[in-house]
Amino acid sequence: MSRRGPDTVSLDVPSLCCDLKSAVMQLQGSSPIQGTEELLCAAKQLVAVLEQPFDRMARLAKAPVGHAVLRTAINIGLFEQFYAGINHAEGLAARCGVEKTLLVRLMNVLVSEGVFEQYGPQQYKSTLSSQHMTLPGFRAVVRGLAETADIMPHLPDYLASIQYRNPSENKPGLFGFAKRSELSMFEWLEQNPEKLQVFQEFQSAKEEMLDTSFESLLRELIESTPPVKKLSSDEESFQTDTVLLCDVGGGRGTALRSVSTSIPKLSTFGRTITQDLRSVVESIEPCPEWEAMPYDFFEPQPVKGAYIYMLRDVLHNWSDTACLSILSNIIEAMGPKSQLLILDAVLPETCAPQFMTYIDIQMMQFGGMERTESHWRHLLFQVGLEVESIQVRNTTGLESMIRVKKI
Ligand SMILES: C[S@@+](CC[C@H](N)C(=O)[O-])C[C@H]1O[C@@H](n2cnc3c(N)ncnc32)[C@H](O)[C@@H]1O
Repeated sequence: MSRRGPDTVSLDVPSLCCDLKSAVMQLQGSSPIQGTEELLCAAKQLVAVLEQPFDRMARLAKAPVGHAVLRTAINIGLFEQFYAGINHAEGLAARCGVEKTLLVRLMNVLVSEGVFEQYGPQQYKSTLSSQHMTLPGFRAVVRGLAETADIMPHLPDYLASIQYRNPSENKPGLFGFAKRSELSMFEWLEQNPEKLQVFQEFQSAKEEMLDTSFESLLRELIESTPPVKKLSSDEESFQTDTVLLCDVGGGRGTALRSVSTSIPKLSTFGRTITQDLRSVVESIEPCPEWEAMPYDFFEPQPVKGAYIYMLRDVLHNWSDTACLSILSNIIEAMGPKSQLLILDAVLPETCAPQFMTYIDIQMMQFGGMERTESHWRHLLFQVGLEVESIQVRNTTGLESMIRVKKI
């Protein structure tokens, strides 16, 4: 199915209905996630044609209302009370400590957004979304997104203040503009431990929510490194200084945690290291299977000749200039057998999925951006790297695996 942007869609409702029908048929044959995405894509295209211009603009302008109501619902403990067995406005209002009229108005929005269903006046039913709101990981994602939502209203004034240049400054950038701070977001987080925790929990939870196809690819790559291949067949084990994987800007080690559980006795084959800012590394619980190392990726890379260097969800936070410097430090450290994996979005050249276009704009808070394949190739070429392969994970393309080698 070709992807069409709402404004370029011809008013061909019958053919869009055919797309929808064929997506329903495919659903039976494909994996649930893949099939659902196709169907959702077809349904969105149909809605895009049917939705009237005023409704579309109103929906865009009113989006902050839904989010603000959701956050209020979290703050008053609405989801906990609902799942404690209270499903009517009277009881929910009493338990949440809010006036009933206010509760009803909040619920009206949540019902209209499909977070709850309504089965009678002031009586509500759960949905998959409301159930998810009780999961700690899901709530961490909502909390993390809320932080960004507070920054975005400042975008128009910020862009005007920089004369509508494409933002490429990490400091102060949109984030600094919104917070009235001279610091970059990562520096600001280091000085605000509570917010740093929200950000790190968001990163870890986001990973848990996503599908794990790259986890298996990463595992295969580690298993194909000489130390693991050789030792696996010899069934020997010994301590070695070899570094199998160096996860640069690896946060609290979410990726290493999952590979170390999927490859038994990983540490007997070599070291796996997550590197991040000191404040982040200090918040990590020590783990015998992998190491956490404080490191600023704008400084020379201390880990030399690792089999795999990985940058996951890192480069989209930074401008091209900053990326070139991060990449140069890795290249300097790479040995003849080293490879670099970049796990990041690869934006389609046309009609990018809405989720990716929004994330791209969100990256302006750091002076970063999402990149197309041609942009990635050009960027990497400038530091003597070339793309070996690109694997796109799913139709949102939000996390692709770009395997890179020295030219
Ligand atoms: C978007 S997070 C991605 C984390 C991790 N790679 C993942 O996929 O979960 C970006 C990470 O880059 C780290 N970071 C930012 N500036 C850094 C720097 N100068 N040196 C090292 N890490 C940095 C942040 O602390 C954060 O953990």
